[in-house]
Amino acid sequence: MSTSDRPDIFDVDDRVRAGSSSQIPDMPSYREHWSRAEADPDGYWLAQAKQRVRWRKQPTRGLEGDFWSIREAPISWFADGELNVTESCLDRQLERRADKTAILWEGDEPGDVRTLTYAQLHEQVCRCANALVELGLKPGERVIIYMGMVPEAAIAMLACARVGAVHSVVFGGFSAEAVRDRVRDCGASIVITQDVGKRGGKHIPLKATIDTALEGERGVETVLVYQRDPAVTVNMQAGRDVWWHEQVDPASPTHEAAPRRAEDPLFVLYTSGSTGQPKGLVHSCGGYLTWVAYTHALTFDLREDDVYACMADIGWITGHSYIVYGPLCNGATSLMFESIPTYPDVDRYWDMVARHGITVFYTAPTAIRTLAAHGEAPVRKHDLSSLRVLGTVGEPIDPVAWRWYYDAVGQGRCAIVDTWWQTETGGHCITPIAPATPEKPGSATLPMPGIIPSLVNDEGREIVGPGQGRLCIEHPWPGLARTVWGDHARYVATYFAMFAGRYFTGDGCRRDADGYYWITGRVDDVLNVSGHRMGTAEFESALIAIDDIAEAAVVGYPHAVKGQGVYAYVVLQPACTDEAGAIQRAHAAVRSSIGAHARIDRLQIVPGLPKTRSGKCMRRILRKIAEGEPDKLGDVSTLADPSVVEVIVRGAEALRKP
Ligand code: WTA
Repeated sequence: MSTSDRPDIFDVDDRVRAGSSSQIPDMPSYREHWSRAEADPDGYWLAQAKQRVRWRKQPTRGLEGDFWSIREAPISWFADGELNVTESCLDRQLERRADKTAILWEGDEPGDVRTLTYAQLHEQVCRCANALVELGLKPGERVIIYMGMVPEAAIAMLACARVGAVHSVVFGGFSAEAVRDRVRDCGASIVITQDVGKRGGKHIPLKATIDTALEGERGVETVLVYQRDPAVTVNMQAGRDVWWHEQVDPASPTHEAAPRRAEDPLFVLYTSGSTGQPKGLVHSCGGYLTWVAYTHALTFDLREDDVYACMADIGWITGHSYIVYGPLCNGATSLMFESIPTYPDVDRYWDMVARHGITVFYTAPTAIRTLAAHGEAPVRKHDLSSLRVLGTVGEPIDPVAWRWYYDAVGQGRCAIVDTWWQTETGGHCITPIAPATPEKPGSATLPMPGIIPSLVNDEGREIVGPGQGRLCIEHPWPGLARTVWGDHARYVATYFAMFAGRYFTGDGCRRDADGYYWITGRVDDVLNVSGHRMGTAEFESALIAIDDIAEAAVVGYPHAVKGQGVYAYVVLQPACTDEAGAIQRAHAAVRSSIGAHARIDRLQIVPGLPKTRSGKCMRRILRKIAEGEPDKLGDVSTLADPSVVEVIVRGAEALRKP
């Protein structure tokens, strides 16, 4: 594709290209790799697995199983391989990178910095692994990690992996109730947490939340507590709670890693779907590590002296794949950030870029939109000349925010990689590969080698060439989550029942005449608020659990900064006379059932929901009203009571008025 005569296509500056040793430096090699991975997936991925991962026993088997027979048996990759992922991430790095910084940590207060070299990280992980064994942890058992962004969170994850246990990190914003659900669902025996988290100058009471979550729970025998702030006092329950500095610090700094089979689970990560109950996606050791190492190296054109900074939280998949496992497997310096982009001021990111000489910077469109609203002056205060690649993840980035990132932050010379992927996919699936792929603002561009996307219409027929439909993937790749913890039938029903033989992503997507993909957002009942994935059903079940509320329906609507906002339609019980109190209780219920990051932006009390005569709530109508398009409701004649729509429309208009 010639890009010179196409104003919609951005090709990178030659300065960005210089010095790359990427396997995919240009489009001909991209096409060559993609075709090879399509024609001979086993050969291609066995070679990548060998090159990027350290194995105890090299695999000789590639893919087994397919999307047609996935109901009977999960797919597998590298089934006869054996490894411990920490030997790729740590032990191997000691040979050439012992004194290289593995984790560069910046705390909540600017300049509060800690560095851990690969040798030091290795030692800390071994100590923590020994401590966990001492506490009785056995291979295969589950550990819940509920922490803030401190290096010890990564150490805890790696220590679990080292002993062959399965970690499940729960984002530190989740409520006690949400933590309890996850503890129960995965049957965790140990919880690792910290006294308090620090974010934006505030304390987050992580240990206190764990105490509430574990009230009356008998499965968890031990809570290991890292002390972030000695000035804070927390309650330590005798016989259950132990301090990190008393258990981990004195432990031996060497630990023989437990061998795992490639298909053994590395971690479980819960994510929202279309029911009220989050599901625990299970990722494998061998396939996952191969996929995240491969995609991390290629997408970002990773180089030995990079200072790589991903701003995600390790409670989400982006933190797992692109702060911990991918970067460490690639021997990179990975920055971990405890704070938020606006603390203490809106130039915090750019201040860090200049101070640390960050070369690759990866964040979410929400953060970009928030910062863009403050103009270019905070960016211009800092020297950003170290930057080479800028990434985004988590939600569609609109062309305006894209241009701001490109012009103001990248100063027109950085590659922008808009990476589309999901908790389920393990790592990047549709993304530019820097510096090879010419970019189009707002498009995630082209599929990774190994990814064969397809667009399917409502009838399940595949769309050929340009068009719009539901995004599916045709063939298994190594990073795909293998199952839902304890519920393989749900895994099959969620991803493989809609279109037989295909993985259905839940996203809508358009493909243009150049074969570029444009993600249009979720087509199921999943919301994406500030890049955080939440189920409308989770909100609804929290709302209807309170006595004042008879019915509730929650939908998303476009929000200038958050991408999507949360819109709740609530029907009160006839006996409820205290509307203001009910609204307050509704907000509190969502907070205590999901967490502080889940907030209803607009709550409208309605006399009833628009239902068909058979009692089905027509969410399409509620979505259109929330989107501010009451003139596009379509046919409402099938409703049991069409007049309710008029009342809802008027109420919505009143709510929008400031
Ligand atoms: C959305 C986050 C557009 C999408 C890694 C997907 C995106 C969901 C992009 C997964 C992108 C993620 N462009 N949409 N570059 N990246 N999404 O599981 O709707 O938290 O299905 O994984 O985020 O969210 P999850």
